[in-house]
Amino acid sequence: MKLFDVYPLYDVTPVKAKGIEVWDDKGQKYLDFYGGHAVISIGHTHPHYVKRIKEQLDDMAFYSNSVQNPLQQQLAQKLGELSSCEDYDLFMCNSGAEANENALKMASFHTGKPKVIAFTNSFHGRTSAAVAATDNPSINAPINKQQEVTFLPLNDFDAFEKAIESDAHCAVIIEAIQGVGGLDEPTSEFFRFIAEKCKEHNIVLIADEVQSGYGRSGKFFAFQHHGIEPDIISIAKGMGNGFPVGGILIHEKFKPSYGLLGTTFGGNHLACAASLAVLEVLEKENLTENAAQLGSYFKEKATEIPEIKKVKGKGLMIGLEFDFEVADLRKKMIMEQHMFTGSAKNKKLLRFLPALNITKKDIDLFFEALKKAL
Ligand SMILES: Cc1ncc(COP(=O)(O)O)c(C=O)c1O
Repeated sequence: MKLFDVYPLYDVTPVKAKGIEVWDDKGQKYLDFYGGHAVISIGHTHPHYVKRIKEQLDDMAFYSNSVQNPLQQQLAQKLGELSSCEDYDLFMCNSGAEANENALKMASFHTGKPKVIAFTNSFHGRTSAAVAATDNPSINAPINKQQEVTFLPLNDFDAFEKAIESDAHCAVIIEAIQGVGGLDEPTSEFFRFIAEKCKEHNIVLIADEVQSGYGRSGKFFAFQHHGIEPDIISIAKGMGNGFPVGGILIHEKFKPSYGLLGTTFGGNHLACAASLAVLEVLEKENLTENAAQLGSYFKEKATEIPEIKKVKGKGLMIGLEFDFEVADLRKKMIMEQHMFTGSAKNKKLLRFLPALNITKKDIDLFFEALKKAL
């Protein structure tokens, strides 16, 4: 059997990793400033993370959601404390798309309405409602197009007001910092405006923090830069530092009932151990603060490079915009400078999404390499 060929691959085979260092099968070292699509939050093979998962594996890897699993409660407790989102309940699943799928479903259950508002250049995943709310027709199959989604430009107050007149929308789903789309952000005024309008019109506000959450933006959640309170928050990626896990934080004003949501694998013992380890390291090593500080340092350093036209994003969720397409630059960065970086829907943008415990020295190395590659 061969693999279903859907990924254009670089000719690199990583076999070992530690922190932001990754080695390929020929012993070549790389620096990982991309974390495999913003997944690596506390660094590859962090000793506490490895220990926690190994110990859990020795005890028990999995049982379904039909028995007590105190690890889920411990995780909810810790997550509530660290994120300051103690007024929310946790539902666990396995990926970002699944988190958004459940968030959208909750919104529709709650309001009884069918339509969704999403924004230009959004990315929310590849499953049914999540992909329909993703602004990329090429990954929407006819079956997904049955979902009714209204796409609006970010920060367009009038368009938003007009769209909600119909009273058909159950949810607004928004990334506080767009990831795949290219690091554009709603302004605080716009975020506050839509939060208020959602309350007035019985629309559920979903903050997709799959990429921007878990400290990456310099606050636990990126929406916290804007002084708003979403109804549902979706999480994944950095939550497990590579272990496939996702979830939604559902405001406690939503009432659960047996069978409303469900999953076989979501919230399993190993996923909880991995997720607890991530939160413990985030707290112990002050990684959210580190992301904020190093984000500022990164932006300062970026001003030294004239080819960079714009620096977008917050904390360690950064996009460097050039006046040319960056595909070749990215290739040079990986094949010649041995550094992983990311691309975006905006082809002129190079994405920088390292683990949150990088140092100033790592950033200096990145800029030295970038200068050479340019
Ligand atoms: C903001 C956002 N939401 C959702 C997803 C989908 O997550 P997953 O690939 O885990 O399904 C992504 C993935 O890139 C994302 O960036």
